[in-house]
Amino acid sequence: MKIGIVGLGYVGLPLAVAFAESGHEVVGLDADSRKVEALNAGNSYIEDIADDVLAPLRERLGATTDHAALASCEAVIICVPTPLTGSREPDLTYLTDSAAALSSVLQPGQLIVLESTTYPGTTRERLQPILEESGMAAGRDFHLAFSPERIDPGRTDYTVRTTPKLVGGITAACTERARELYSLICDEVVVLSTPETAELSKLLENIFRSVNIALVNELSQLCERLGIDVWEVIDAASTKPFGFMRFEPGPGMGGHCLPVDPFYLAFKAREHDFYPEFIELAGKVNRAQPAYCVERIGRALNEAGKPVKGSKILLLGISYKPGVGDIRESPALEIVSLLRELGGDVSYSDPFVPELPEFGLSSVDLDDGLRTADLAAIVTAHPGVDLTEVVATAPRVVDFRGVTREIDATNLIRL
Ligand SMILES: NC(=O)c1ccc[n+]([C@@H]2O[C@H](COP(=O)([O-])OP(=O)(O)OC[C@H]3O[C@@H](n4cnc5c(N)ncnc54)[C@H](O)[C@@H]3O)[C@@H](O)[C@H]2O)c1
Repeated sequence: MKIGIVGLGYVGLPLAVAFAESGHEVVGLDADSRKVEALNAGNSYIEDIADDVLAPLRERLGATTDHAALASCEAVIICVPTPLTGSREPDLTYLTDSAAALSSVLQPGQLIVLESTTYPGTTRERLQPILEESGMAAGRDFHLAFSPERIDPGRTDYTVRTTPKLVGGITAACTERARELYSLICDEVVVLSTPETAELSKLLENIFRSVNIALVNELSQLCERLGIDVWEVIDAASTKPFGFMRFEPGPGMGGHCLPVDPFYLAFKAREHDFYPEFIELAGKVNRAQPAYCVERIGRALNEAGKPVKGSKILLLGISYKPGVGDIRESPALEIVSLLRELGGDVSYSDPFVPELPEFGLSSVDLDDGLRTADLAAIVTAHPGVDLTEVVATAPRVVDFRGVTREIDATNLIRL
């Protein structure tokens, strides 16, 4: 098959690679010409895709900024961003822009699948009318379906192939076409009755995580007051083989998904005069977590007779999760801002994020940073960091990820 992928980011590029590795021809389209040039030169910009993965696929995987190249594809999958506006409402402009461009080259018989995370109704109410500006009707002249992306960047135990794929088309024939498409690269394809079911299933997965992370974040604050080690409590509860799922507290929620997606559903719910309280409450608790972390840093410095103002504070890990360089919505950014507002002299060390232009900062050498810091805070625990050395070198260490549990030291404070 010849498959077009629109949006070659964390979602689109691994998908393009999966189809190309299965022997199919892939046309990748991205609005960012630097990504297109990089890919055509065999250079990956996504941590999970190594350059030597791209090398053998050169014949089958090409990238372009020109929508005309999509006209010859049997299927086109849309993986563009779905962020929030400044007032925390869905920003579908990437989707509507890419749909308008696609509509101008749409061909009879093509299958169009939306993978971007969004509220129920987007495929039918927003995407379909734009594609039908081509003069063709969805379900009659072309096929249209939604299939949520479930990729978890940095994860190696589940892949595109081994993660079951949900599909829901606007007609049974659309669903069947989508099922056939994903059967090429996924071991299991789960057929749903409508695109709306598929859209909402993805939101449920992310809201489930957001709510549970909020629960343990709140519990960690209570545990501090009670003088109970929250990590020991979570370890203990996790020994139950049923009815409990482990979630861990941290500096807050980051990434393009968890801090964003629940508000897509809240927006849709408001249109129906419904106010989902779990979503809002979880968002509120999780968004307050960076400020709580700054308070803990302030108290740790205070115990040493130091104010935040003028103290050298080294943050370990700026990206939102270990092993990736994605800083979108990373709570570390909020922590940097808040510490700077208090006059803290903030630096950071993160091998995955060499520069932080919005703060005029560059990643410092970890050993140098630890030697000069008044306090080091573990915000994101990237693999390969010698934590024993961190605790041995920095005068004070605050661990927001619970990764120093094996270390017993008086200069160490955990969330
Ligand atoms: N990153 C994840 O872990 C993840 C997981 C599951 C689902 N998702 C969802 O997948 C979607 C994409 O997320 P992502 O992380 O891959 O984003 P990303 O920013 O990494 O990639 C999106 C790409 O789309 C390109 N783009 C933007 N507008 C375009 C246009 N009009 N035409 C062509 N290309 C365009 C951008 O240049 C970018 O390369 C979002 O809806 C997100 O919520 C992301």
